[in-house]
Amino acid sequence: MYKKFVSTFAGLATGAALFVGSAAAQETVEVLHWWTAGGEAAALNVLKKQLEEEGVTWEDMPVAGGSGVQAMTVLRSRVTSGNAPTAVQMLGYDITEWADQGVVADLSDLASKENWDNVVPTALQKFSKNSEGQWIAAPVDVHSTNWMWANKKIFDEVGVEGDIKDWDQLIEVLDKIKEAGYTPVAYGGQPWQDATVFEAVVLATGGPDFYKKALNDFDEETLGSDTMKQVFDRMTKLHDYVDPNFSGRDWNLATAMVINGKAAVQFMGDWAKGEFLRADMKPGEDFVCQRFPGTEGSVLFNSDQFVMFKVGEDKRDAQLKLASAVMSPEFQIAFNKVKGSVPARTDVAPDEFDACAQKGMKQLAEANENNHLYGSLAHGYGAPSAVKNAVFDVVTAHFNGEYTSEEAVQALVDAVASAR
Ligand code: BGC
Repeated sequence: MYKKFVSTFAGLATGAALFVGSAAAQETVEVLHWWTAGGEAAALNVLKKQLEEEGVTWEDMPVAGGSGVQAMTVLRSRVTSGNAPTAVQMLGYDITEWADQGVVADLSDLASKENWDNVVPTALQKFSKNSEGQWIAAPVDVHSTNWMWANKKIFDEVGVEGDIKDWDQLIEVLDKIKEAGYTPVAYGGQPWQDATVFEAVVLATGGPDFYKKALNDFDEETLGSDTMKQVFDRMTKLHDYVDPNFSGRDWNLATAMVINGKAAVQFMGDWAKGEFLRADMKPGEDFVCQRFPGTEGSVLFNSDQFVMFKVGEDKRDAQLKLASAVMSPEFQIAFNKVKGSVPARTDVAPDEFDACAQKGMKQLAEANENNHLYGSLAHGYGAPSAVKNAVFDVVTAHFNGEYTSEEAVQALVDAVASAR
């Protein structure tokens, strides 16, 4: 009797396991992403939880490496070997390049049902659609790169009051900080981070039109100009303010230097804010957020978008659930509050966000209105990856002293010409 019960139970259990197994297989998303720093992982958890509430199991595929350089390498090999992930975090031109390969799923039905056309900022839509105008990506945030983050205590100690307006004032402040015995600039020497600082310096030095001509349009004369030489000179100047161990340092470790009061400022996109918040620091009280000095009025943006690969009809429902969750206003508020970014929808009220994010949202809307909203080159919205990487190489080689500023200008012109 007991034996029979056991075997019947075992049979039932196997049946149940099979049933659960197949249901789970249908409702699983494998998500390739590079959100591995503390603030990033906390934001990702908001998404995981939301999906789990909808019965979708999250299979995590993290590939560490800021700005997704390594993640994109892994993605290429996965797709090439016929094993594409269900969903992938992606930036700008990477999205449209994959769309051109015909391997990503069409989300247009969902987009029209949920009215994405009317709520997603137009600057993003260019990258969320393929050449036929079909929606192929769901944008989860809008980040921007021309920010400066500072330790408030150090600023108070050396007597910095209010925003630093321009380059000259920045240099005065950095000198004072150095004299006070701190590392002025927390710096991570990785090509994408060099490029993140470089693009802010391009904007600060040449102004908005110069930025656009140089790093969105790649106009040869602009790239080869005296102003560009001045940009490289300024990068050399910044090198005076970094510590000797900057090389190869991850961006979040540089942020930690500011959080811990070892260094005064970091020039980084607003994902850095996620780290300050996680360390329980308050904007305005414990840390300062302001635009990179001299770039107020312009915004260099990037946006993380989720792209679904064509991996079979059995995954379709889970993919649509993920896309729909990502686009819901409630989710965008919850996620972006933690991530440091702002919503990728124009219909979300700023009330629930902190002062720094509210500033960011206002500046984004104004920059959009005044045509001073530009794609970040360092984060995939300025140029396709070949050109982007060509710029990275030159900027990094120059920062590390392999080129003089004059040589760097010429190398930039040549590298861009051969990559285009
Ligand atoms: C992404 C952010 C990410 C940052 C650092 C950027 O390209 O848009 O979401 O936090 O890289 O990894």
